[in-house]
Amino acid sequence: DDITARRKDAHLDLCSTGDVEPSGNSTLLECVKLVHCAMPEMSVEDVDLSTAFLGKRLRYPLLVTGMTGGTERAGAVNRDLALLAERHGLAFGVGSQRAMSEDASRAASFQVRQVAPTVALLGNIGMFQAIGLGVDGTRRLVDGIGADGLALHLNAGQELTQPEGDRDFQGGYRVVELLVKAFGDRLLVKETGCGIGPDVARRLVDLGVRNIDVSGLGGTSWVRVEQLRASGVQAQLGAEFSAWGIPTAAALASVRRAVGPDVHLVASGGLRTGLDAAKVLALGANLAGMALPLFRAQQAGGLEAAEAALEVILASLRQALVLTGSRSCAELRQRPRVVTGELKDWLAAL
Ligand code: FNR
Repeated sequence: DDITARRKDAHLDLCSTGDVEPSGNSTLLECVKLVHCAMPEMSVEDVDLSTAFLGKRLRYPLLVTGMTGGTERAGAVNRDLALLAERHGLAFGVGSQRAMSEDASRAASFQVRQVAPTVALLGNIGMFQAIGLGVDGTRRLVDGIGADGLALHLNAGQELTQPEGDRDFQGGYRVVELLVKAFGDRLLVKETGCGIGPDVARRLVDLGVRNIDVSGLGGTSWVRVEQLRASGVQAQLGAEFSAWGIPTAAALASVRRAVGPDVHLVASGGLRTGLDAAKVLALGANLAGMALPLFRAQQAGGLEAAEAALEVILASLRQALVLTGSRSCAELRQRPRVVTGELKDWLAAL
């Protein structure tokens, strides 16, 4: 309904210019140092980062994670960023399709196949909307935009900060079980900036989940976004919990250790540079995910600005591979790296 759409545009306003990345928060990627190779013995041209995702071939192991849809402004974001993903060989996700499930006339803002006919495309729905929609309703959302898979998002921290948010989080694993049966390895389970830890990841994998986006702490904070919209008690809770979550580097490294090499892991949450992406790929991510930096560039200067921002990220990622003497992600993972400070503490506890 209109309330969902209005909330979406308020979220976009806050994310495009608001203080949605609390300054004390960290991915802990600064605790990861890749080691310089003075004699790379390769050309930048030799870097091959291509990888498989959702049955498709990507040129770069990057995912533009789900952000938006439901309004005209959101539609422009989706089309610009999906076009970029198509052009550069990245994967792309639309934002929550709740608005589309409530009002079919909002579907157009999620349609990106005209500009991105071959992109690896993820639909998106929240855990609790998925309970309401059931498998058939969820499948209609995915098929309705020609997506290759579904991202199921978890956001308990955001819900508890939202005055109108959910308060009862029972029944989640049951929904995952049903969706795994329906979507198989086309299902991805993601957080939204508070991180998925090893215990949850192991349970998801035991239910058959093959793709997890840990989406950790250190970037966009949805608790902070809701804090900025709230007043009274909810605003106080939001302020207090804006730093709540598992830092992205800690979530990724601990989940990789817990689930073994075969589960497809996306690392997102606070990645801002190609070097950040290289670090998560070295730590065992199959894909690096980004939302806010590309969204902000698009809001500031449209497709052209978003493409300029992306080109810096891609050049930096290639440079990190050359300077570690790595032709591929597999080689990068085998290179030495230094892990310092707080990240070591997290990994000792998780
Ligand atoms: C998001 N994110 C998000 N996630 C999701 O699963 N469904 C959604 O509808 C949205 N909406 C949304 C809107 C905007 C404007 C942003 C910036 C983000 C969360 C996103 O996919 C990601 O998990 C986090 O934002 C962390 O990554 P960054 O932003 O720190 O790179």
